Amino acid sequence: MPTLFEPYTLRSVTFRNRIVVSPMCNYVAIDGVLTDWHRAHYASLARGGAGLVVVEATAVSPEGRITPGDSGLWNDSQGVVLAEVAASIKAAGAVPGLQLAHAGRKASANRPWEGDDSMAHDDPRGWETIAPSAIALGGLLPKVPRAITLDEIKRVQDDYVAATKRALAAGFEFLQLHFAHGYLAASFLNDHSNHRTDAYGGSLENRARFLRETVDAVRAAWPDHLPLSVRLGVIEFDGRDEETVANAIAVATGFKASGVDLLDLSMGFTTLDVDIPWGTPAFMAPIAERFRREVDMPLSSSWGFDTPEIAERAVSEGPLDLVMVGKAHLANPHWPYYAARKLGLERPSWTLPAPYAHWLERYAVGS
Ligand SMILES: Cc1cc2nc3c(=O)[nH]c(=O)nc-3n(C[C@H](O)[C@H](O)[C@H](O)COP(=O)(O)O)c2cc1C
Repeated sequence: MPTLFEPYTLRSVTFRNRIVVSPMCNYVAIDGVLTDWHRAHYASLARGGAGLVVVEATAVSPEGRITPGDSGLWNDSQGVVLAEVAASIKAAGAVPGLQLAHAGRKASANRPWEGDDSMAHDDPRGWETIAPSAIALGGLLPKVPRAITLDEIKRVQDDYVAATKRALAAGFEFLQLHFAHGYLAASFLNDHSNHRTDAYGGSLENRARFLRETVDAVRAAWPDHLPLSVRLGVIEFDGRDEETVANAIAVATGFKASGVDLLDLSMGFTTLDVDIPWGTPAFMAPIAERFRREVDMPLSSSWGFDTPEIAERAVSEGPLDLVMVGKAHLANPHWPYYAARKLGLERPSWTLPAPYAHWLERYAVGS
């Protein structure tokens, strides 16, 4: 049996295999409420065979959305459809997971296929953005955020806790905090975007304070028997990586002590002045190897771990416990079945429901 298809347990939750549908925004929610699109999308992905399906970045407050089409969980009616989505994922045999996020200075943007840029200042759909410091990211996102006040920091953290309780009520069994990709938490951690002079800026300890406090508050609200993950921006590829990775290792070690069960390694995206090795498959693997040596906690990562052979190697010989597969799941919602065939799993069709499995088994389709 390939390691990729062995079960894996975090706290009381067992995933049927090591394949995770990485969180991916659809940008077609209405006022933060998911629609029929999402119902079909997530049920289909879960039926595809992954062990864990993480529902897209879900904003803890309206201003925390990247675009007007983002998922949200700042009110109970948003929780109603999310509960249906969670139930459909579970019914298909996968663990339902949810990612909570606040977009910070990358909020108030147009959808990727409508420009991916800051909404014009006179666009009535736009809103004021907040961030650690009044510094724009630049490029397509020139909107200058307002520096968040201490009261607002507390309010955002309370929003995280309220969304956590709603996620639990909606039936999610895995929660991930989005502390990467240039959003609010990532922009606190990196001094490209954090120039504060109070307790939330300056030293690494201060820059990590927002993240640490948020983890502690969420962990206290999320039951002991359910796993909590952080997707952390651990590298920028900005020429200062030695320092950034060492900082991330220190921060992650603190998360482990705070009860974080899975560290999902990703990029910080807090500056545009980067040289990311996009074309290289699994380019996060060497960084993950270092975390494996220096941080004693379960790890996952994404970015090109999306061929069956690479995914299998990452969990059998490599540094990961779970493999996050993103775009390849959009191309083929039955990616786990395809991976099972490629890895020579006997009777790979058990990864699919009978109405598909019966035929694919009989005609050996999908290699
Ligand atoms: C359409 C799309 C939406 C995404 N939305 C999110 C998101 O909501 N949260 C997140 O952490 N990452 C998001 N990502 C990043 C993916 O989770 C994943 O990390 C990335 O695509 C790299 O994995 P891959 O090479 O397997 O696609 C998104 C990626 C895509 C393509």
